Amino acid sequence: MRCIKSISVIVFLTSIFLIILYSTLHLELSHSVRASLQDLQNEPDLNNAAKNSFKEESLNSPLPDVNTVTVSQGMVNFDFHDFSVSQGFREIIPQNGGYWNRLLFSALRSLDNRKNPLINKLPWLGCRQENQQLLQINVHDFNSYPDLFQSFLQGMNCMSPPVLINQPNKCIPKDKNGDKQTFLLFAIKSTPRNFERRQAVRETWGREGEYQNGLRVRTVFLLGSTSMDDPDLSALLSYEAKHFGDLLQWDFHDSFFNLTLKMSVFMKWTLKNCPQVSFIFSGDDDVFVNTPLLLTYLQSLEASKASQLYVGQIISSASPHRDSRNKYYIPQSFYDGPYPAYAGGGGFVFSGALMQPLFLASHVIPFYPIDDVYMGMLFRALEVSAEAHTGFQTFDVKQQDRANVCVHKGHILVHQRFPQEIKKIWNAINSPMLTC
Ligand SMILES: *[C@@H]1O[C@H](CO)[C@@H](O)[C@H](O)[C@H]1NC(C)=O
Repeated sequence: MRCIKSISVIVFLTSIFLIILYSTLHLELSHSVRASLQDLQNEPDLNNAAKNSFKEESLNSPLPDVNTVTVSQGMVNFDFHDFSVSQGFREIIPQNGGYWNRLLFSALRSLDNRKNPLINKLPWLGCRQENQQLLQINVHDFNSYPDLFQSFLQGMNCMSPPVLINQPNKCIPKDKNGDKQTFLLFAIKSTPRNFERRQAVRETWGREGEYQNGLRVRTVFLLGSTSMDDPDLSALLSYEAKHFGDLLQWDFHDSFFNLTLKMSVFMKWTLKNCPQVSFIFSGDDDVFVNTPLLLTYLQSLEASKASQLYVGQIISSASPHRDSRNKYYIPQSFYDGPYPAYAGGGGFVFSGALMQPLFLASHVIPFYPIDDVYMGMLFRALEVSAEAHTGFQTFDVKQQDRANVCVHKGHILVHQRFPQEIKKIWNAINSPMLTC
């Protein structure tokens, strides 16, 4: 009897012990979950300003909950599950060289730990606040940076400016049976004041419509806004937009260092409004493009190439300019390392199928002040190699060939031309009298 009693006491005590042990473990477990959520909100420490709040857009959650996020009126897919950044890209960039390098690797750590990379991005309003002090801590010589460069750093996390002029129906086939999906979308970087250049492009190589073999071409001009000191062109722009239906405008200052932002908002626009497009041309409003030749080239591509295309004039072993008087100057403490091979920004072409991964990459890889270098980084991150094509002359042809129409006939793109020259060359290469 006594023996049975002590056995039941032992059993009782053991179960109590087990219950206590289990609940401690459980507490431990939920504690660590909470701790990692905390980390999530503090990561990366370079970017404490980011803690502010992205709550309105419900981005403040761990990766498994984030799939799609509402942007303006529609949905853009923000699913990072199958997204990764190539080893090759990680290896070209030194980890601790400059501020940008540190930001990149901090974002990559978040991605690798399956944390939501969007946590560092801020809503447009307020995204430039409180940055100054933090930047001075993170970049020891921040105060010696040129003003525009300082301004770029302050806005590096600002990614969703309001849309001022939209073309939501640009790529919707007008007639269900006859009209085709867009084969080539010309996305031309312009600025509000460049009306004459846009008009020359509309009347020549950027003319929308059906080209050979029924290939459909559409055109949009990408604009930021004028600054307070500029004359107000908004009435003219809204007239132009209504009349031609090809302007896209966002509310950010249209400047050289904001071209990366322009590319990023254009990617978002395309995903939402033109998701089926086969190819995208990105270029300047002062280039000449031989549209029929470009279309012939694109149509000749094999399917595997056509879905992984990034083609242009490739600049393969460039490094940052370190002379502060240069337009492309990059301070050493901002970026250290070489540039991945990239296509000159005057004009290059890529597959529409790459738009979604590029867009995701642009939310992981911090903005870089030079847009074509940045695009090169994104493609490298996706392991899409830059394809060199001698038909793209982003640094212009030889001086003695500048007036030679036959030379232009053999090129896909030539930089840089006045609107009058663009019209002249276009008319000449399309003339039945041309014998070359
Ligand atoms: C980019 O645009 C924002 C918003 O208009 C502006 O505040 C910022 O100064 C611009 N950045 C540069 C480097 O021009």
